[in-house]
Amino acid sequence: MERTLIIVKPDAVQRGLTGEVIKRFEQRGLKIVAMKFIHITEELAKKHYAVHEGKPFFEGLVSYITSSPVVVMALEGNDAIAAARKTIGATKPVEAEAGSIRGDFGMEIGRNLVHGSDSPENGLLEISNFFTAEEIYSWDRATDAWIQE
Ligand code: RTP
Ligand code: MG
Repeated sequence: MERTLIIVKPDAVQRGLTGEVIKRFEQRGLKIVAMKFIHITEELAKKHYAVHEGKPFFEGLVSYITSSPVVVMALEGNDAIAAARKTIGATKPVEAEAGSIRGDFGMEIGRNLVHGSDSPENGLLEISNFFTAEEIYSWDRATDAWIQE
């Protein structure tokens, strides 16, 4: 069972797409195990995107993700990382397939609406950056057996 950190980025929240984005993960079968509405601090942004420090887009990325509130979620499921990234679509929205969130709603890499962890290890690490253990719930969902064997 994998977990992924999802961020509904400031552009998606500002454009009123929060519900649409959450809906797509939920209807696919990923289980919400944590969720909150927060304004990411510069310190947390730099920690979350530490792997990109020094790259030309880093400052712009930090200022974008801290520009207004976001919704952060931890989602759980078998192959949650791959499933969520497929639902999100390619990093550059113009290359993202229609039917994905970025393919349906995005135009530019710097305004690509959603974050999803890129490996099971990073999923757990990123979730721990945003949520305390008490904020994460393992729960039995009535439909579990109809989504996963
Ligand atoms: P994310 O981490 O947000 O889920 O996106 P990703 O894996 O598809 O892309 P990643 O390579 O991890 O890049 C993280 C975010 O940095 C911004 N970016 N801008 N202007 C640029 O060339 C550039 N490259 C990356 C995007 O917001 C990307 O989602
Ligand atoms: Mg990434």
